[in-house]
Amino acid sequence: MQKASLCNKLVAVKKLIKQRENNLRDKKKIVREMGIMCTCNELKIQGVVELVGFDLENYAIAMELMEGGDLYKMLHQIKLPITSEQKLHWAVQLASAVANLHSNGLIHTDLKSLNILLSADHTVLKICDLTDVMPATTKHFEPHGTPFWMAPVKTLFSALIRL
Ligand SMILES: Nc1ncnc2c1ncn2[C@@H]1O[C@H](COP(=O)(O)OP(=O)(O)O)[C@@H](O)[C@H]1O
Ligand SMILES: [Mg+2]
Repeated sequence: MQKASLCNKLVAVKKLIKQRENNLRDKKKIVREMGIMCTCNELKIQGVVELVGFDLENYAIAMELMEGGDLYKMLHQIKLPITSEQKLHWAVQLASAVANLHSNGLIHTDLKSLNILLSADHTVLKICDLTDVMPATTKHFEPHGTPFWMAPVKTLFSALIRL
């Protein structure tokens, strides 16, 4: 993720890395993510990072910049003391964002602290990385997400599928 200025506003830019520009699968993934972000914007789904614009030619997505960075960094690197109220406030925002996705028929499938972002003052929490969002109507789920953060049965299933 890089920071950029767009119309005098700082935005976050997610771009396909140079070495992978010839990888069709990666290109398809980022274009799919653009589409999902457009859908979330149109449906005004709260709690998901907002799309600002995209550049199809350069496989780049511009989105609102969450200056506080991801929750993983906050918990494991910055390690600021976090009050119970703050934790509860984050939990409520996260649950509400997930519920908003679900009530619009979408499942994130890769929820983890690296894909959860905080505002500069750490009060606002939003979900990012919509790469693996799936429609809730999907009958046969391919294994998605990150094994380390998956429920044990799902991890086993995913490992077996990859054998
Ligand atoms: N809008 C944003 N504002 C601030 N940081 C972001 C934003 N989007 C992504 N990031 C940072 O970039 C990291 C990777 O972004 P992500 O969309 O999860 O890409 P990937 O598909 O590579 O996992 C996140 O964990 C977070 O640290
Ligand atoms: Mg991610």
